[in-house]
Amino acid sequence: MKPYVYVTRKLPDALVKPLREKYTVNMWKHDDIPVPKDVLMEEAAKADALFTVLADSIDDSVLTAGKNLKVVANLAVGFNNIDLKTANEKGIAICNTPDVLTDTTADLTFGLLMAAARRMVEAAEFVKEGKWQSWSPFLLAGHDIHHKTLGIVGMGRIGETVAKRATGFDMNILYYNRTRKPEAEKQLGVHYTSFDELVEKSDFIVCLTPLTPETENMFTREVFQKMKPSAIFINAARGAVVDEQALQEALEAGEIAGAGLDVFQREPIAADHPLLKLPNVVALPHIGSSSTETRTSMVNLCVENIISVLEGKEPKTLVNK
Ligand code: DGY
Repeated sequence: MKPYVYVTRKLPDALVKPLREKYTVNMWKHDDIPVPKDVLMEEAAKADALFTVLADSIDDSVLTAGKNLKVVANLAVGFNNIDLKTANEKGIAICNTPDVLTDTTADLTFGLLMAAARRMVEAAEFVKEGKWQSWSPFLLAGHDIHHKTLGIVGMGRIGETVAKRATGFDMNILYYNRTRKPEAEKQLGVHYTSFDELVEKSDFIVCLTPLTPETENMFTREVFQKMKPSAIFINAARGAVVDEQALQEALEAGEIAGAGLDVFQREPIAADHPLLKLPNVVALPHIGSSSTETRTSMVNLCVENIISVLEGKEPKTLVNK
């Protein structure tokens, strides 16, 4: 019997073809509606491989149901949606999609910073709503980006690539990370600081840290209160790294000047969420890596990883080595 692969979102047939040529492949029928838990459980019970997305909770129950499960290939660099401990116990390979999304995610992150600083979304709405009466000296005046201080929290591959973008804007770049990055310090001129110093000195605080028990809720009200009142906070990592209520209160109280958010505690964020009512918040629907080229490369990498594991080979991007 051919191995069985279950794909939790509808993907273009051409991209899934290499899997169909070798295995029995079944795919959830929607690309924008998550697979219900009961369906996922039933499919996991039959599957040799699961192709998942970051919105799927691949918890202990799913992994335990997967009696034949050998690999979970997750279409994201982050893998906080997967119970790694159970996967390790059961010898299930977990694969992610690093590297192929680095530049694209860094582009979006820097774009979000620019949009928030220069009030681009607000300004675009202003024009479309017919509010533009005349050129005016301080019309929608935002904050400069060039020559300002950027603080990057989480100096992984994406963090370094954002820093590279920032050097073109003559920014002073601080970073905070679990480990120091001497190579990045040398090549990009970035400066290592404590978390507190970064938060206090930066004009832009960009969060790119993975979600772990250590980073969960690391941006509290107290942290926002330490920021400059002119600071702009950008989150392109995971929503749960931030206490969202605290962020909302800090913005409402004018303790910081704005935020650019690609990720939220609960995704999709409710349209009537108070954060979305604030004009100084730019909110995006978790599209960090979403360019056609990059999402295609990510799918290809997941496919490649599944084939490697099912053929008994080491996958290219294994998380649980
Ligand atoms: C990831 O891959 O983890 C990113 O959040 C995608 O945008």
